[in-house]
This record gives sequence, C-alpha cells and structure tokens, in this order.
Amino acid sequence: MSRSVGEVFGAREGEEVELKGWVWRKRSHGRLLFIDLRDSTGVIQVAISAGRVSPDGFNEASRVARESSVVIRGVVARDPRAPGGVEVRCTSFKVVGEALDDFPIRKGVSGRVLYDNRHLYLRSPRVTAIMRVRSNLVWAVHEFFRSRGFVEVDCPTFVTAAVEGGATLFEVNYFGKKAYLTQSVQFYQEAAIYALEKVYSIQPSFRAEKSRTTRHLTEFWHVEAEMAYAGFEDLLRTIEELVRYIVLRTAELSARELKVLGRSVRTDEVEDPFQRITYAEALEILRRRGLNAEWGTDIGADEERVISSEFQTPVFLTHFPRKLKAFYHKPDPSNREVTLSADLLAPRGNGEIVGSGVRIDDYEELRSRILEEGLRPEDYSWYLDLRKYGSVPHAGFGLGVERVLKWILDLPHVRMAALFPRTLTRVMP
Ligand code: 4AD
Ligand code: MG
Repeated sequence: MSRSVGEVFGAREGEEVELKGWVWRKRSHGRLLFIDLRDSTGVIQVAISAGRVSPDGFNEASRVARESSVVIRGVVARDPRAPGGVEVRCTSFKVVGEALDDFPIRKGVSGRVLYDNRHLYLRSPRVTAIMRVRSNLVWAVHEFFRSRGFVEVDCPTFVTAAVEGGATLFEVNYFGKKAYLTQSVQFYQEAAIYALEKVYSIQPSFRAEKSRTTRHLTEFWHVEAEMAYAGFEDLLRTIEELVRYIVLRTAELSARELKVLGRSVRTDEVEDPFQRITYAEALEILRRRGLNAEWGTDIGADEERVISSEFQTPVFLTHFPRKLKAFYHKPDPSNREVTLSADLLAPRGNGEIVGSGVRIDDYEELRSRILEEGLRPEDYSWYLDLRKYGSVPHAGFGLGVERVLKWILDLPHVRMAALFPRTLTRVMP
C-alpha cells in the first residue's frame, strides 16, 4: 500500500495508497486544502477536506509549512483539474518532521540564492529530474563499456605530475611534499592496459580553471578509457559509438524525467555518422567566417561555437598541431607537425565534450617530447617505464559527464548538471 508518487499516476481509480514525502506547495480554500506532495519520483496533488480526515489531521494539514515531511493515506481519483489528471483524496494526514522556518527556495529568487542553498534547491522537482537523468547517463556508460569487455579501474586522486599542463593544477600539501589533485587518470590507465588491455574509469578530475564560462567546473566527473593495440580509427569509432549509445540510452531510460523537464532529447543529432574535419580545415571555416585564424591558433570556446554551428551532428576535430597538445600525443607519421588527436564537439555551440588521442609508444620519442616541452623526465619516470617493457600502440579518451548532460538536456550552464558544483567562485555548500 505504500507507494511512490510515480506509481500513483499509474494506479487504478479508488485504490487506497500511502505516500511518504514532503510538502512542496500548499493552497487553502477554507475547509478544503490542496497540498502538492513531492517525493523522489514526482509531485502529486493531495486534496484534504475537513469532512474526510480526522479533526486533528485537518488541523495538522492546515498548519503544515512547506518542506515538512509527511505521511498521508488516501484514495486515488482521476480528476482532469489536477495536474497530471490524478489526485489523492486524503483520509489520514501525519507530519513526520516539521519545517522550522520559511523555505528559502521560492519562485523568483536569484541564481545566487539558489546555489547558496544548493543543499535545499536539490529538492526542486526539476533539479531532482536532472540528477535522475545524470544517474541514467552514468548507467548507460557502464552498460556500454561492460558490454565491450572493458574492465573498470579506480585510480588515485593524489598525483605528482601534470597530465594536462601545469597551469590548471591544484596543489596539495602532502605531508610536507608537493602533490596535486588529478586532472585525468590517463597515465594510470596507460599502466593498467598492460595487465587488463581495455579499461575505463568514472572519477572526478580537478582543474584550477580561471575561466568563467558556462562549461568549466573546477571539479568534474570524467569518463576515461584506454585501449591496448588501438589505433586512430579504433579510437574514433569507440568514441562515436559511446556517445551515440549514451544519448539514445539516456533518452530511453529518462522518459518520465524528460516530461518533468518539458524536454526531449535530440536523438536525431547522433543518428548519422559523426562528421570529421582536420584542424587545418577548421581554420578555413574560421577564416571564411571572418575570424583571425593562423596556423597554431588555439581552438577556444568562441572558435568551437563557430565550427560546431556548421554541423548538425557532433563533429571530430582531428590532427591538432603538436604544440597545441600535451606531450604524450603521437605525431602523425605522414606529417609529424600534427598529432593523431581528436576533440569531439557537440552541436548547438556546446563545444568540446571529448578529448582523445593516440599515445606515443616509443621510449626515446616520449623522452624527447618531455624535454622539448621543458618538463623533467624524472617527474615522469614511471610513465616512461611503460615504454620500456613490451610497449604497444594504444589510444584513449576522456569525456566530461556534466558537459554531455548540458548538451543533451540543453542546460544553460554545466553547474546545473552537478549535485554540488565547484567553480572558480564556489566551493560551498
Ligand atoms: O580534453 P581533456 O583535458 O583531456 C584529458 O584530460 C585527457 N587526458 C583524457 C584522456 O585522454 N584520458 O578533458 C577531457 C574532457 C573534455 O573534453 C571535457 O568534456 C571535460 O573532460 N572537461 C571538463 N568538464 C568540465 N569542466 C572542466 N573544467 C573540464 N575540463 C575538461
Ligand atoms: Mg581537451
């Protein structure tokens, strides 16, 4: 008899149910009250009339404040006037935990108030729906990798060397020694493929990003994978299949949440093969659009927006110049000025969602690239070791969970995709 709100929408007329939840909204018409009861599965209207519940119950319901927790019993009734066409006519009303103060989350409060009170704002049905979609998305990622023989590995968070450049490292005092928070688990995965061949991880990465954009967090959840004996084509095919699977499967798993959000997922964007252009071709697009784009220009947020607006599907940007990419990227054997690297840009100006590449697998070549970048081979000694003992061609990629969620739900900012977002200006709550 204890049911979730979601189940009650599918229950038969006249069924007796018990619901445990929170008072989301309340309207009073004298001897008739309406409470919108919220639980993790949705919101339903509960009608409480003085004639049908005990006097004590009616009193409690009249006094109850928003966000008090309650247990109610009642009868399911189809009523076209109720949101969703179903209401519960209350027969018993009990407060479990009274709200002690006015709830700070109200219609019309600023974004700042919402995020200062993220611990309370989470209860909003829209935020709840986004977090459920996120959970479905992560589930889809696991399904994809598991069905293809990848082994999940969990890598350290404290590290001693930069993967993606020193500028965005968070330093940690590690018992008097310098350590950092990980930017990417790539190097650990590269070690793991010599044992497990195909691995993946879903863990937080940290970037001291000074950029105040709608797609940068300082802590984000990173899906990463690494594959032994994989070349450039294997890499791009795997990324494309993963992204397509994530979008289709998340949409399929999230029908109810999408209804709450009033959104549909643009599954058409991933149906056709993803487009591919080289860095050089991207520069031509930028020049045609009147932007200054010399060889060596970095592809930042503005450039990505221009490029991705030319395509209806996600687009791979490939063959970045060596000097724009981290030292571990393998140069293209047919033109050593560029690398076997690829970023995947999401449509509608969402920008980069995946960074990827083939890794240098030759010991001497890797060592000279480390030196060329002004880094110290001693700092990368164990990483170099991987090229000493049975090195193999290999490739891998990283995908940002919040960036993908922002794209498929068309969210204005990545912070909406994180339970407790961390940005340049926020580490609280
Ligand atoms: O392109 P990135 O920096 O690539 C790497 O870290 C590689 N080592 C991954 C690998 O090959 N194993 O980051 C990968 C993805 C980006 O495409 C983006 O989706 C996400 O991580 N990302 C961020 N998301 C939110 N906020 C940030 N500050 C992000 N930085 C990267
Ligand atoms: Mg990148």
